[in-house]
Amino acid sequence: MFRTIDSLDVKGKRVLVRADLNVPAKDGKVTDTTRIDRSADTIKQLSAKGAKVIILTHFGRPKGVDPQYSQKLLLGPLEKAVGRKVAWADDCVGPEAEKVIATLKDGDVALLENVRFHPEEEKNDPAFAKKLAANGDVYVNDAFSTAHRAHASTEGLAHLLPAAAGRLMQAELEALGKALQHPEKPVAAIVGGAKVSTKLELLGNLVEKVDYLVIGGGMANTFLFAQGKAVGKSLCEKEMAGTAREIIEKAKAAKCSIVLPVDAVVAGEFAENAPSKVVPIDKVPDDQMILDAGPASAEAIIDRLGGCKTLVWNGPLGAFEIKPFDAATNAVAQWAAERTKQGKLLTVAGGGDTVSALDKAGAGDKFSYVSTAGGAFLEWLEGKVLPGVAALEIKPNHPGCGCGGKGH
Ligand code: 3PG
Ligand code: MG
Repeated sequence: MFRTIDSLDVKGKRVLVRADLNVPAKDGKVTDTTRIDRSADTIKQLSAKGAKVIILTHFGRPKGVDPQYSQKLLLGPLEKAVGRKVAWADDCVGPEAEKVIATLKDGDVALLENVRFHPEEEKNDPAFAKKLAANGDVYVNDAFSTAHRAHASTEGLAHLLPAAAGRLMQAELEALGKALQHPEKPVAAIVGGAKVSTKLELLGNLVEKVDYLVIGGGMANTFLFAQGKAVGKSLCEKEMAGTAREIIEKAKAAKCSIVLPVDAVVAGEFAENAPSKVVPIDKVPDDQMILDAGPASAEAIIDRLGGCKTLVWNGPLGAFEIKPFDAATNAVAQWAAERTKQGKLLTVAGGGDTVSALDKAGAGDKFSYVSTAGGAFLEWLEGKVLPGVAALEIKPNHPGCGCGGKGH
């Protein structure tokens, strides 16, 4: 259980909002404003309630103060997203921050410089958290996509001020809850990507939660190899074959069907428009590599998903970045989008690559929910407790006693 901004009395108060405005940028310009745009609701609503909204965020992974990672470039896109002027402070703590915050009137918004300019941030240093807390009366965490980090601005602060989840945090938790914690069944997951080794825990957790686990991308090759199939020159972690077999056994015990490709698009090299052909999965030539699931696989996946009510998607089915190896991902994504539109399937997707693959297929905006999170989404799929979320939990025996619901 956590508080939301509905229950906060913020008029005239300084509200520290931890957002995740860690957006891609090139040559000093933001190239994708999604995270900024999706953080706007919380900021606008708090401002409308008369709060002095003070935004904390990180940008990149600076080691101490580094002008390359100044957040000033976020100001323009942020002002556009929230529809008002945003004040700027050169530091997130200390006199610089205090000076700017002192000038704020009710409803005003300020953006403070990168919290990661202070190495104490990532150490979740209590003294640094106190310095941050000194500039606020209330704390709102809207940064689900950074909730897997136990940093001062994402975790420590929640214990020092009355704390609540922002709208984006709320939306992410609600969507993810519907997808895995209390889904309408049957529920399926599509997991793709290059390597089994990076998604081991995730696969292990999912087989216990879902009815169908569709495995695609490079990691499917490892599973095929583990079943004794020849995979030619394909990307394959042969040393992970034993682990793949363990996952298959675990799935059997949990009554989860693992869905693997039955055919493949193969080519001699990983290159755009490389000459390719479709082969049955047990006929992959020695000198060829699997670069996508074949059309019969896409059809079989759709067939299995046809009876499902819920779908969680992480990772593409093939080398979607280059044509024609995006076909299976596109076909299944477009089908899932259509099914969502018909109200027959709840679709939740997340993870950097996944979002660009779905967008490329023209399906991303038609899914029920697309998470803004990369790493945090993966950790959540692994079944891990995200420290930023856990810190917002209210202890029911401490209602409104002034401890922020945290207990003593
Ligand atoms: C992200 O983009 O994954 C989040 O903003 C967290 O950033 P980090 O991976 O640098 O901690
Ligand atoms: Mg990350």
